[in-house]
Amino acid sequence: MVEMKVIPGPASLELGVRIAERLGVAFYPAVHRLFPDGESYIRIKAPLRGEIATVVQTMFPNPDKSLLQLCLMADAARDAGAKEVICVVPYLAYARQDKRFLDGEALSLKTLSKLLGASGVDLLVVVDVHEEEALEGYCNEAGIQVKNLSAMPDLAEYLKQNGFEGAYSLSPDVGAVDLARDAGTVLGGEVGFFTKERDLHNGEIVMVMRDLDVQGRDVGVFDDIVSSGGTTAMAIRGLKKQGVGRVAAACTHGLFIGNAMEKIIEAGADIIVSTDTVGSPLSQVTVADLISSFLKGKY
Ligand code: R5P
Repeated sequence: MVEMKVIPGPASLELGVRIAERLGVAFYPAVHRLFPDGESYIRIKAPLRGEIATVVQTMFPNPDKSLLQLCLMADAARDAGAKEVICVVPYLAYARQDKRFLDGEALSLKTLSKLLGASGVDLLVVVDVHEEEALEGYCNEAGIQVKNLSAMPDLAEYLKQNGFEGAYSLSPDVGAVDLARDAGTVLGGEVGFFTKERDLHNGEIVMVMRDLDVQGRDVGVFDDIVSSGGTTAMAIRGLKKQGVGRVAAACTHGLFIGNAMEKIIEAGADIIVSTDTVGSPLSQVTVADLISSFLKGKY
């Protein structure tokens, strides 16, 4: 049996409990309330001396608040004598700003890593983070180990169970082609990608639709994040022009901001599915098994 205590944070109460149940360990939801001025109060009521403390806290829909609460929980667990502090952050916000694109920009991923390191985090467990290498680099500098888990096989399994066995796996951008490859190992079909480029005239992002062998075939579009839905919708429109069969849109982190879902449906998606790293009505796949299996294997 794993010797640890799970502390579900305010942003991940249900997922934290699911992970603890699968591990067969006790869980102690962090006590949380807001002061009248909006500050977060956090208290961990768990005996942690000499224990492994696993804090679970995703970072959407309130990334700033969730981040600070995460730091408060990690630091409180450390102060309470935990021998190891693990932070499971299923959706890690601030991960897309992993480079300085313009002079003077804050390098969010670096700052986030420093904050977590200063809060006493030993191990950061994330799911399909945007740039794994960049996260590892900054976290290691801050004294944090990183484990990035892929939810793609589980998303692909869901699609397989829903009639997409043998479907083509597509990534809407070459940067995410590894995700499509992971999915392809489960679906069994071919794997391909479109590319996103910046239009040199107006600075807008355009998708370059390469001709793919998809006519009449079912396709799964796999991405790490669906935010505004624009990327997935563009990819589906490109596929439709190439005469595809049914289309599934799958993502790990379904933020679905504004009318994202409608955009993807209007583009022609037959199924949309995401995981519960961020809860929504489309979170049909849980990452609790993925995370608990990793923790079981490690401890
Ligand atoms: C970007 O590189 C990511 O992998 C996603 O493709 C992007 O965040 C999706 O954003 P949206 O849904 O707003 O197009």
